Amino acid sequence: MHIASVGVSKSCFLFSLAFCSLLLLFIPALQSPTQQLDPPQPRPQNKSAPARQSNHAKLPGGTIGAGGTNLAAGLSKTSEVQKTPVRTESPSPKRAVEVKISGSRPTDRLELKDIFIAVKTTRKYHRSRLDLLIQTWVSQAKEQTYIFTDGEDKELHKKTATNIINTNCSAAHNRQALCCKMSVEYDKFIESQKKWFCHVDDDDYVILPSLLRLLSSYHHSQDIYLGRPSLDHPIEAAERVKSDGTDSVKFWFATGGAGFCISRGLALKMSPWASLGNFISTAEKIRLPDDCTIGYIIEALLEVTLTHTHLFHSHLENLQKLPVSTVLDQVTLSYGGFQNRRNVVSIVGGFSLAEDPTRFKTVHCLLYPDTQWCPKFKSGHKN
Ligand SMILES: *[C@@H]1O[C@H](CO)[C@@H](O)[C@H](O)[C@H]1NC(C)=O
Ligand SMILES: *[C@@H]1O[C@H](CO)[C@@H](O)[C@H](O)[C@H]1NC(C)=O
Repeated sequence: MHIASVGVSKSCFLFSLAFCSLLLLFIPALQSPTQQLDPPQPRPQNKSAPARQSNHAKLPGGTIGAGGTNLAAGLSKTSEVQKTPVRTESPSPKRAVEVKISGSRPTDRLELKDIFIAVKTTRKYHRSRLDLLIQTWVSQAKEQTYIFTDGEDKELHKKTATNIINTNCSAAHNRQALCCKMSVEYDKFIESQKKWFCHVDDDDYVILPSLLRLLSSYHHSQDIYLGRPSLDHPIEAAERVKSDGTDSVKFWFATGGAGFCISRGLALKMSPWASLGNFISTAEKIRLPDDCTIGYIIEALLEVTLTHTHLFHSHLENLQKLPVSTVLDQVTLSYGGFQNRRNVVSIVGGFSLAEDPTRFKTVHCLLYPDTQWCPKFKSGHKN
């Protein structure tokens, strides 16, 4: 009997020893690897899964599934939001307030001021491209838009109260100059304390309500990288950061010309390869352009997948194909430029094609009809 009780306490002791060492093993795993400003949040179970497959196959309701080739265009705002589970419960206004106070769930309401929108431009496009943006969507988001350019322009400062940053980068359109600007964009975003980093080019119109709606379906402390892949397959590059370049890596990247967004949680993890000039050396190592380098850091180094969305549009795609009824639900629009003047969204409104060749003014007046320079209609101004 005595022996038996010793046996029991011995095995008890061994058991608790095993349990304790198991606990000790788990403690480091529970701590987040980088110091984050926000507590880690539960990730939505299905969010990262659809990234690799084409998006629309996963959408509930099957509204888009049929049209195989035109991946994109028809994503309506409802399907885009349904896809992402975080905010499905849509709290009533009263509940939203309560949730905000308790702060225990990732349902705090995202506001436009939480988004950092970087616009990349160059001195020679201040008049021909930037003025149009300042007249249109930037006027609705002055505080959170940051224009990254490469030359002083006093006239520009007079035209807008938005943030204009002279990066002092070269005005050349080569990899080094573009990566130099992206590097400054990244550092300014980190400094800003905002929740989301979005990058666009100077030929993009940002539909702010759609952007807010899209980002509201995620939480900024999750690892989120959202954008349109420019190719239909991942890019392959020699791995020169983690190894000597004999191995290759495959990764997706979001095309910079259509715009992309990164959550703050993910941006902070990119810091070793992106902050304070490290972005330039990372890009030099893999010898790829700025937007590819972003994809490389996120997909290849951090192993976070790009969430493919077709709500972002660059001048490289056929914009006329975008169904008219969905134009205002997109997140970014673009236009063809000199080589392809007719590649614009087919939207009809207050301005003729001659008056508004990019269609940005027309889009703007449909979104903000009270704008002082928008044509005033007596009735039926849509169409
Ligand atoms: C995935 O998301 C869908 C739609 O948001 C939801 O109905 C489903 O329950 C989710 N599945 C899992 C495993 O969470
Ligand atoms: C560019 O140079 C000017 C003048 O030297 C300086 O004030 C400014 O901070 C620089 N910009 C950046 C982003 O470093």
